[in-house]
Amino acid sequence: MKTMENEMNDKQKGELARKVALITGAGSGIGRATALLFAREGAQVAVCDLNRDGAEATVAAIQAAGGQAIVVQANVALAADCERSVRETLAAFGRLDVLFNNAGITRRANVVDTSEADWDAVMAVNVKSIFLMSKYAVPVMAEQGGGSIINAGSGWGLVGGKDAVSYCAAKGAVVNMTRAMAVDHGPQQIRVNSVCPGDTDTAMLRNEAAQLGLAATALVEAGNARPLMRVGQAEEIAQVVLFLASDRASFVTGSAYVVDGGGLAGSA
Ligand SMILES: NC(=O)c1ccc[n+]([C@@H]2O[C@H](COP(=O)([O-])OP(=O)(O)OC[C@H]3O[C@@H](n4cnc5c(N)ncnc54)[C@H](O)[C@@H]3O)[C@@H](O)[C@H]2O)c1
Repeated sequence: MKTMENEMNDKQKGELARKVALITGAGSGIGRATALLFAREGAQVAVCDLNRDGAEATVAAIQAAGGQAIVVQANVALAADCERSVRETLAAFGRLDVLFNNAGITRRANVVDTSEADWDAVMAVNVKSIFLMSKYAVPVMAEQGGGSIINAGSGWGLVGGKDAVSYCAAKGAVVNMTRAMAVDHGPQQIRVNSVCPGDTDTAMLRNEAAQLGLAATALVEAGNARPLMRVGQAEEIAQVVLFLASDRASFVTGSAYVVDGGGLAGSA
């Protein structure tokens, strides 16, 4: 039970005061923006990424702003790394309240041209990682009396997209495994939601353009076709993740939050 004094202190410290968050893929893009925002809102953050340099840069930025964060270098497709990520978070901060399963990759090709290796990699990094991280995080949250898990879906988890069959399969799985996890772990007061961004200006979007043989900015410019006439910025996705992580979303679970400038709403 919070005392009135604690509640007043928490308001001063931010929306995630006293909370510990583990964010995968936090060395770049949406994960980095979310790690910075969470830290600004008072969370202690475990910055998990395969890319150590990226994770270190995120942690340095958090610390420079007066926040608390650690680097957890891990491949989220491997069970041992996921188990260790949760363990290192607990060792550093003593608890785990929020898990943002954000790490993801894309391989742009149709079913004929997708290699078996690419299919397996996309499924492992985007889907199996959520199974593995949650497998080790859920018992900790349950023991603490609750928590919030946010999984990175995509607009392409809700509709099909061109030349992205493995990614669409993976994100469709993310959206529905989120619902199944919400059903399973609601009684333990663990909320599980997915965030479904539309095109967002990150390294992934530029990498996708390269895979399609387009100029680096081509997919950013294609954002003009959306109702809001632009692609998203990583911070705009992070704001919705913050809401889902916070106590403001206390009755929200099993949902897929579309954050896409109206891309799925239709066209004029
Ligand atoms: N950018 C978009 O347009 C967009 C749209 C919809 C959904 N998403 C989803 O948002 C999430 C973040 O995407 P982003 O645009 O910020 O991408 P990004 O490429 O900028 O960042 C992804 C991060 O994940 C890390 N990563 C990759 N494989 C990993 C592994 N095996 N283990 C640990 N870390 C790994 C990378 O090193 C990188 O730092 C992804 O799940 C992506 O599918 C992005």
